[in-house]
Amino acid sequence: MVIQRIFSGIQPSGVAHLGNYLGAIRQWVSLQDKCESIVYSVVDLHSLSVPQAPLLLKRNIRSMTVCLLACGVDPDKSIIFQQSQVPQHAQLMWLLSCRTPSGWLSRMTQWKAKGATSDRDVVSLGLFAYPVLMAADVLLYKATHVPVGEDQLQHLELTRDIARSFNSTYGATFPEPKPLLSNHKRVMSLRNPLQKMSKSDNQEMSRITLSDTPDEIRKKFRRAVTDSIGNITFDPAERPGVSNLVTIYSAVTEISTEEVCLQFEGKQSVDLKEELAEILVDKLGPIRERIEQLESDEGYVDDVLTRGAERARAIAEDNISTITRLVGLS
Ligand code: TRP
Repeated sequence: MVIQRIFSGIQPSGVAHLGNYLGAIRQWVSLQDKCESIVYSVVDLHSLSVPQAPLLLKRNIRSMTVCLLACGVDPDKSIIFQQSQVPQHAQLMWLLSCRTPSGWLSRMTQWKAKGATSDRDVVSLGLFAYPVLMAADVLLYKATHVPVGEDQLQHLELTRDIARSFNSTYGATFPEPKPLLSNHKRVMSLRNPLQKMSKSDNQEMSRITLSDTPDEIRKKFRRAVTDSIGNITFDPAERPGVSNLVTIYSAVTEISTEEVCLQFEGKQSVDLKEELAEILVDKLGPIRERIEQLESDEGYVDDVLTRGAERARAIAEDNISTITRLVGLS
């Protein structure tokens, strides 16, 4: 497989949690050895599709950047930048919006679940148009491959539809980007294993964050919701709590869920919780230390973002000038 250019984005939700790490960030780090041209963005414009408190948003942009660096996203190997510092994202989004039938957007599963059912006098046009901004992100860099979670596959499909339609009108301009699916399942909430682990859950106990102390990690696993059966099996439909712990164990140790169950044969969920907590204490310890170092070095993080935005802008300016010419603006 020839990967010419990778683009991916993550929303600045604050300090990353285990779901972000296992579902996206870890894959971002390992892809750095497989591709020469990688662009990773903290997509702050996407966050604005729902209301944000300004000071908190500003802090969260920084925290997410720090987490990416602490996990091993390397500014010498990848371009890492803040989306709003490259205005061509919003510019290309408008150009693509004007060619995207609104029916395509009405059919997006995420919109149907989150937006279409909300009060139309409250929910923003930005939330509806969000997938077009995502398409603009990817196409602005002519990315060929996009690491995404399963829940973003449909948006990437839309990106390909938009690229194809543009190409058929104006001639071959954009590659049709392919997904790079991370092979790990979604990490669910430790309090309600039927829901995804998420920053928006107001129960702190529902998620492990990358800056949790060893004691916090142990406590959160001890309190993780399981069931009264006790033994260890992998059956997400019938036993979501235990299965989520097996999924996390499998993802962190990179052994299959079957092997995890074999390894815990004859043992109880409390054993799995304890062992999992210790593995994560070891794994996340060095990341937490790097987060602390980076947080005390504001100048460094600023420099990374400034340099990243300059490099991203150089590509974006070049591509947008071709695009504006093609559509007749210049
Ligand atoms: N929509 C993605 C999410 O919520 C984030 C994102 C924005 C993204 N732009 C992107 C992912 C471009 C991949 C490529 O997870």
